[in-house]
Amino acid sequence: MHVTVFDLNEDGAKTVADEIGGASVAGDVTDPEHCQRAVDRAADPGPLRVAVNCAGTGWIGRVIDRQGNPHELGPFEFIQRLNVIGTFNIMTKAAAAIAKTDPLTDTERGVIVNTASVAAFDGQIGQLAYSASKGAVVGMTLPAARDLSVVGIRVVTIAPGLFDTPLLGMLPEEQRQALGQSVLFPKRLGDPARYGELVVHIATNNYINAEVIRLDGGIRMPPK
Ligand SMILES: NC(=O)c1ccc[n+]([C@@H]2O[C@H](COP(=O)([O-])OP(=O)(O)OC[C@H]3O[C@@H](n4cnc5c(N)ncnc54)[C@H](O)[C@@H]3O)[C@@H](O)[C@H]2O)c1
Repeated sequence: MHVTVFDLNEDGAKTVADEIGGASVAGDVTDPEHCQRAVDRAADPGPLRVAVNCAGTGWIGRVIDRQGNPHELGPFEFIQRLNVIGTFNIMTKAAAAIAKTDPLTDTERGVIVNTASVAAFDGQIGQLAYSASKGAVVGMTLPAARDLSVVGIRVVTIAPGLFDTPLLGMLPEEQRQALGQSVLFPKRLGDPARYGELVVHIATNNYINAEVIRLDGGIRMPPK
């Protein structure tokens, strides 16, 4: 298997690609041309079989803040561009490339894995923009899987809970511990390796399709 890592962070993408013997492409998922470049790279020599959408971030902002000011449009739009349009860009371009490959068992050609969040279902106070974006990723799963069934491409979404990634690494250790304690079981932040394992399972188990899978240690996020 050969992996192409596509990320805005050029050095980060290269470091990961070097570790796994893959290729790296620097670019922005909100830019359709960058996404096309990344997909072309991944499909050469190919065949491209799996596309995993991971780029995304969060934003904290209430509908109205404590002073009564309305949520600004700018950050709301930024989050939808990154989390929704980024996912759309890679999904559509990867699907077009996978659709050109020769079919495998069961006439399957490949799979697209998108990343939502438990915030799509349990949006907390201040997660208006983030929950809207992840709800959209969840909402795209079934229609995309239906659209792509004719070319043998599955679409599956993972909705992670709290994972120990650089995103949460920015929090003080005390807060990270407290977040871990809020997980039903096991009481800790998720290891990103579990996410990777689920992607591999989704890629190899071709009866999983059109589904959103929570990967969250049973957590149900409280209002705050
Ligand atoms: N960490 C968690 O607890 C958690 C929980 C639920 C969902 N998620 C989702 O998982 C995904 C990955 O999150 P993470 O925790 O690994 O975050 P992270 O910040 O550690 O990684 C996100 C990656 O996306 C890249 N990126 C940001 N903007 C980009 C752009 N415009 N184009 C290309 N790449 C871009 C960043 O450079 C970074 O490498 C996100 O979609 C996030 O919403 C994370």
